[in-house]
Amino acid sequence: MNVAAEKPAIRVRHLWHRFGAYDVLRDVSFDVGHGEIFGFIGPNGAGKTTTIRVMSTLLEPMAGRVEVCGYDVSIDQDEVRRLIGYMPDHAGVYDRITVREYLEFFADAYGVSSGGKNYAVVEAVLELTDLDKLESKLVATMSKGMKQRLQLGRILLHDPKVLILDEPASDLDPRARIEMRDLLMELRSMGKTVFLSSHILTELADVCTSVAILERGKMVVSGPITEIAERLARAREGVHVGDAARTPSVVKRTLRLRVLATENVVRAALADAPFVTGVGPGPGGSLAVGFTGDDLAVADIVKRLVDAKVPVCGVEPERNELERIFLEVTKGDLQ
Ligand SMILES: Nc1ncnc2c1ncn2[C@@H]1O[C@H](COP(=O)(O)OP(=O)(O)O)[C@@H](O)[C@H]1O
Ligand SMILES: [Mg+2]
Repeated sequence: MNVAAEKPAIRVRHLWHRFGAYDVLRDVSFDVGHGEIFGFIGPNGAGKTTTIRVMSTLLEPMAGRVEVCGYDVSIDQDEVRRLIGYMPDHAGVYDRITVREYLEFFADAYGVSSGGKNYAVVEAVLELTDLDKLESKLVATMSKGMKQRLQLGRILLHDPKVLILDEPASDLDPRARIEMRDLLMELRSMGKTVFLSSHILTELADVCTSVAILERGKMVVSGPITEIAERLARAREGVHVGDAARTPSVVKRTLRLRVLATENVVRAALADAPFVTGVGPGPGGSLAVGFTGDDLAVADIVKRLVDAKVPVCGVEPERNELERIFLEVTKGDLQ
């Protein structure tokens, strides 16, 4: 029986952990499906690293059950370790060797190099991580982003199914972050599951297919982003499934509008728009249009602008979906 194919990539049930007298994790449960890029989001101290260390067999859970592809992290540690690639948050890399030497060393240590005779796996990882041009570079001279990439390369050597990355993008510059995002998407397209944590909501959120938000050791919400957004919208408005598209929402939102026209022209064009509450200057030369409603209201605003011959170049929500979810689900607990 192929256990790995049937069970979720990661399954966490009623996980508790305590340091001293302090409950760091309180009844945390969630599932990560195969092939997902799953964002584990929460402020510093929320308990992300503690959860990740349990998943990675480095910390025994005090109560609850955690499985990777059906294997229990407390019982089947060897299987779990073979299945996962774990990248800790602040791991150092050996400095005084080259990129290739570093990867060959770990290929030997992991027993994937046929006793040091065959480094095909290192070639594959160098190519995948785009480190092949830097293979002779001393690790000490690499940028933070490149070191991070090298670490990711290291944990790919044994071809793990599930990658568990603790804050992989923290401290990276924007370019390195974009490159990390592209690499994660490539790994996903190779069939891997990626679980990553972040205390910065927007850091890698746009690559995540699902998220879990953790606050003070408690799971606030988890699931696919679109599903959470729909669930929240329905709960907020008391709207039944299926009615959502027809019932105007009462939620206040803001659009960022980029037009080849002045604020006054836009204000005039939207003067009679029933959902619009105001027009003002927005960031970066855009205009901010306040409105109450859902996507129907957005469509109405765009139609009115087009009818009034206002050249529209861009229409964006002020916040992305995940930011809205985060503000909504966490506001009750943050005082
Ligand atoms: N080894 C430890 N001993 C005592 N307290 C710890 C230990 N590790 C973490 N903590 C505490 O547990 C809480 C959660 O920490 P952590 O899991 O690292 O959170 P996060 O990764 O979300 O920032 C924090 O309050 C932290 O101080
Ligand atoms: Mg942490």
